[in-house]
Amino acid sequence: MPATDGPWIRAGGALVAAARMPGVAWAWSALGHRRRARRFAAAELAVDLAGAHCVVTGASSGLGLATARALAGRGATVWLLCRDAARGEAARAEVAACGGDARLVVVDVGELGQIRRAAAAIDAPRVDALVHNAGALPHARAVTGDGHEVDFAVHLAGPHLLTKLLLPRLRAARGRVVFVSSGGMYSERLRVDDLQWRARPYDGVAAYAQVKRAQVVLTELWAAREPTIAFHAMHPGWADTPGVAAALPGFYRATRRFLRTPAEGADTIVWLAAAQPPPGPSGRFWHDRALAPTHLLPGTADDPADRAGLWTALERATADR
Ligand SMILES: NC(=O)c1ccc[n+]([C@@H]2O[C@H](COP(=O)([O-])OP(=O)(O)OC[C@H]3O[C@@H](n4cnc5c(N)ncnc54)[C@H](OP(=O)(O)O)[C@@H]3O)[C@@H](O)[C@H]2O)c1
Repeated sequence: MPATDGPWIRAGGALVAAARMPGVAWAWSALGHRRRARRFAAAELAVDLAGAHCVVTGASSGLGLATARALAGRGATVWLLCRDAARGEAARAEVAACGGDARLVVVDVGELGQIRRAAAAIDAPRVDALVHNAGALPHARAVTGDGHEVDFAVHLAGPHLLTKLLLPRLRAARGRVVFVSSGGMYSERLRVDDLQWRARPYDGVAAYAQVKRAQVVLTELWAAREPTIAFHAMHPGWADTPGVAAALPGFYRATRRFLRTPAEGADTIVWLAAAQPPPGPSGRFWHDRALAPTHLLPGTADDPADRAGLWTALERATADR
């Protein structure tokens, strides 16, 4: 799909319109992060992760790579789950140079058979942190080898299955799971009537926002089921990543000066995954190391039946065949 700014201009407009808080664009920029970072407690991330195993999806670039670097730099063994072997190996070498240990597992997180093989390939007795970071915003509807729509597969079904397969090892570590959502989710309500865009004309921006909304709800659902594991969702604000630069050249040119660095965008991911003392309650939504509201716009409240329907749909999609 050729790079296009049209959907992102609409997405940006929707975000600003959605965020009925004064100064939200500033808050999600580098300026907002840097202002808040003055109050961050450095000691919370002065942690020794030697012996810890951390799994990061989409670790070949952007926020995932920055997260992997930060965790390895604190001594963790980091499992980089990347879909491209060459990009993954380059990232693995870069992460290994930060300290700790870095292992590559090649997996397309939208392909459930590959997820099963990847979980088996993670040769770790415990999982201290699982970061569901891999993501994309396709502009045309596509399906995976399993027949799932790609947004649904990459952001929801794949992460849900990987979480299930790693549960015993997450429990053993009293581990943490982090979903990297997006501020774009504020513009959409949870919809499960047509999760895979079979019945409507595909809209990439809406599809992206809806799966990012669903990730926040899924975090809440998992937290209610697994009291020994901490589940967190977060949004990184706007960060200067290779994905944004390649897919959104106009948006990137216009906003580049104000975008967060990948490390700044990843800061709250790393904090949720590794900080001591552990961040607050499980099942919540975070931004810049603080709890964030899950709804800003009228009409976006979750219907309890949709929440239950999301779980049912994901259980059905990820059932053993
Ligand atoms: N940057 C922002 O401003 C921003 C804002 C809100 C939310 N986010 C979220 O942050 C996360 C990271 O995005 P980013 O900005 O760092 O973008 P990025 O630089 O494009 O990184 C995305 C990563 O996900 C990987 N990926 C995509 N589809 C995959 C698949 N099917 N299987 C395995 N890996 C896959 C990519 O692999 P390849 O290298 O092979 O392409 C890449 O490593 C995403 O979930 C995104 O939605 C970012």
